[in-house]
Amino acid sequence: MPGLSGPSDYSQEPYRHPCLHINAKEPFNAEPPRSALVSSYVTPVELFFKRNHGPIPLVDDIERYCVDISGLIETPKKLYFRDIRMLPKYNVTATLQCAGNRRTAMSITRKVKGVGWDVSAIGNAVWGGAKLADILELIGVPKLTSCTQSGGKHIEFVSVDKCEEENGGPYKASIPLSQATNPEADVLLAYEMNGEPLNRDHGYPLRVIVPGVIGARSVKWLDSINIIAEECQGFFMQKDYKMFPPSVDWGNINWNTRKPQMDFPVQSVICFLEDMQSIKPGKVRSLCIHGFIKVRISGYAVSGGGRGIERVDVSIDGGKTWMEATRFQKTGIPYIAGGISNDKWAWVLFELTVDIPQSTEIIAKAVDSAANVQPEKVQDIWNLRGILNTSWHRVHVRIGHSNM
Ligand code: MTE
Repeated sequence: MPGLSGPSDYSQEPYRHPCLHINAKEPFNAEPPRSALVSSYVTPVELFFKRNHGPIPLVDDIERYCVDISGLIETPKKLYFRDIRMLPKYNVTATLQCAGNRRTAMSITRKVKGVGWDVSAIGNAVWGGAKLADILELIGVPKLTSCTQSGGKHIEFVSVDKCEEENGGPYKASIPLSQATNPEADVLLAYEMNGEPLNRDHGYPLRVIVPGVIGARSVKWLDSINIIAEECQGFFMQKDYKMFPPSVDWGNINWNTRKPQMDFPVQSVICFLEDMQSIKPGKVRSLCIHGFIKVRISGYAVSGGGRGIERVDVSIDGGKTWMEATRFQKTGIPYIAGGISNDKWAWVLFELTVDIPQSTEIIAKAVDSAANVQPEKVQDIWNLRGILNTSWHRVHVRIGHSNM
């Protein structure tokens, strides 16, 4: 594609913030410290996790950059960057979560394949761009279409990065046409993140944002869009990011038996313990009466498909009893799951101030607006690719130490 190209080596990678924890250097995969996630509702760009499958593409000429739209439609079209910017702009606050978030913990019970991640392969951003539904309308596909006249049922997004899994070919993924043409689904071709042009790591100049769906479908460095009859046949749709039962292993796997994962399930994670008696935030150290200490427990909770967070339960006695945490998004606006003033596609942060004993296990579990609850044990949802570890999140605390 003129204007945008994917390098074949890692000699031109962008600058990255030194506090990111690097899980793999080439391709670059990194996540921020847990505490960074609860420091602000909107995650700063430099602390947002970075998930790549190849070297980061480069724009050589933004004037020549355009997206080719073709496939099962009457009139294929080239859309230049300036054409896309002329369309009505929407800002959508949406949480992007990699399906591999918390994979390292899943691997501890039984080994899984894939880049290891702690709990921070997730972030919340304000994405600015054009709605895909508007773009498709421009090329003759009306809103709320599930099948074009020529039989197109899926929208495939193709990038320019060179991925080993695709034998040097580009990253690609698809979503159903019905979702792409539904303005309420808020699927964007985004050119901004938190009010700034996208940076190279996050897809400059243009990326897809599919709210409520695993991050793998939000294709970065968009090159072309194809309207196709079947879902995309690329590696990351057909041979990865699928949820298998614990009985399936590398010896008996049949990839065709499962659909590509789209929405993600309900998730919550404890990110920070603040000692309320201490002058040094983040350090649990001062002991108070009867060996109990007052701490503020904070974390994030999120569910896919636009489902809100109905409740976050916290236990400070290893799951024997539970207390409800406070949930919030924006300051001054009370959070109500499904409330019109809340961000439908975004996480909630939660907190609870409580006296904890000297040594204990703190647990969080969330309930979404469809009353889905996180599973207790990771063993029950173990899968060979280590995706969607949404088991109860546990933190062991000993006064003076915590495993945060
Ligand atoms: N798009 C391209 N072109 N190449 C990629 O490697 N990774 C996907 C998705 N889009 C990827 C991509 C995955 S698995 C995730 S979780 C998100 O991008 C991560 O987006 P981020 O790096 O902006 O956080």
